[in-house]
Amino acid sequence: MLQSKIAGIGFYVPEKVVTNHDLAKIMDTSDEWIQERTGIVERRYAEKHKETTSTMGAKAAEIAIERAGITPKEVDFIIFATLSPDYYFPGSGVLLQRALGMNGIGALDIRNQCSGFIYGLSIADQFVKTGMYKNVLLVGAEFHSCGLDFTTRGRNVSVIFGDGAGAVVIQPTAEKNKGILSTHLHADGEYAEKLAYINPGSHGGVHLGTEKYGYPEQEFGGIFFTDKMYEDGDYYPNMEGQAVFKLAVTKFPEVINEALAQNGYKASDLDMFVPHQANLRISQLVQRQLGLPDEKVWNNIQKYGNTTAASIPIALCEAWEAGKVKEGDLVCLAAFGSGFTWASSLIRW
Ligand code: UT7
Repeated sequence: MLQSKIAGIGFYVPEKVVTNHDLAKIMDTSDEWIQERTGIVERRYAEKHKETTSTMGAKAAEIAIERAGITPKEVDFIIFATLSPDYYFPGSGVLLQRALGMNGIGALDIRNQCSGFIYGLSIADQFVKTGMYKNVLLVGAEFHSCGLDFTTRGRNVSVIFGDGAGAVVIQPTAEKNKGILSTHLHADGEYAEKLAYINPGSHGGVHLGTEKYGYPEQEFGGIFFTDKMYEDGDYYPNMEGQAVFKLAVTKFPEVINEALAQNGYKASDLDMFVPHQANLRISQLVQRQLGLPDEKVWNNIQKYGNTTAASIPIALCEAWEAGKVKEGDLVCLAAFGSGFTWASSLIRW
């Protein structure tokens, strides 16, 4: 059977840098609090009305495609992972397809939040292994800054997230013990509301709108957004940070060890570990549990915050560009987040 490998990788982050001090001017927070609890120093925000999730994804994709030695016309399938799409529907995959002139090929959007990139990698891997596609473009991109609560009420969430995009091209390889060795996907819907953006959604009987905003009189049941829901900020993401933290530090090592065991490796065999950039403290705890030295773990949350589906490809790309991921290296990717979902992958570069 064929193996699949990452043949090209790229990332894009918007120019605008927003520091902790900038946020402290508009809400009750401080650089000290944010750095101590999360490690984040600054993050990037996309330019509203000029950039979107798919335009950022397209910039990262162009770099990945060029580095894979192909043209956009040779891509034969798109997978787009995001929780902050351009539109409620259709997905950002078709917008990326249109932007890069790849019309006609399939475009699949996936919604697995922080684990989205690894879930996408797993899908791409299966398509390539079976010989169905030769060049799968996988993009993870987020435009968080247009959906966060920048008042003190939302500070536990808004200080963490940033915007950006990463992309890879997955191709077949005939080389043995090379490329994506395995992927491991998990979820537990028990925790669905612990980190969620639940409005708009059908759970309330309506997707969007209030009578105030012109929604017609209630004809078929259901409830509408009330003024109170707007006042309470019910249309913003919410997170029970400690619940996420607690499970993350258990599930990260578990899913990494699952990947190592399946392939007959130990943590000490790893050349590089690229965790989803959720919180520097989480990454450090996981690093300690695995017994890895600093030079074998790539962290960049300090500069970009948590970019959800984009965080792993951005970090992996930076590590590769810095020469820290080289031909033959054993690389582990792992993620945990909303769903809860968690995942890992082991790659022989
Ligand atoms: O990709 C997965 C995404 N999410 C995560 O990985 C999140 C995992 N969890 C975390 O990273 C941490 O739980 C947070 C960084 C979100 C929060 O840290 P914490 O140590 O768990 O704080 P907490 O939520 O228990 O809140 C402690 C205090 C509260 O004040 P009181 O009630 O003790 O007076 C919060 O209101 O810190 C307050 N607080 C803040 N203070 C200043 C919450 N956010 C902020 C803030 N600035 N930004």
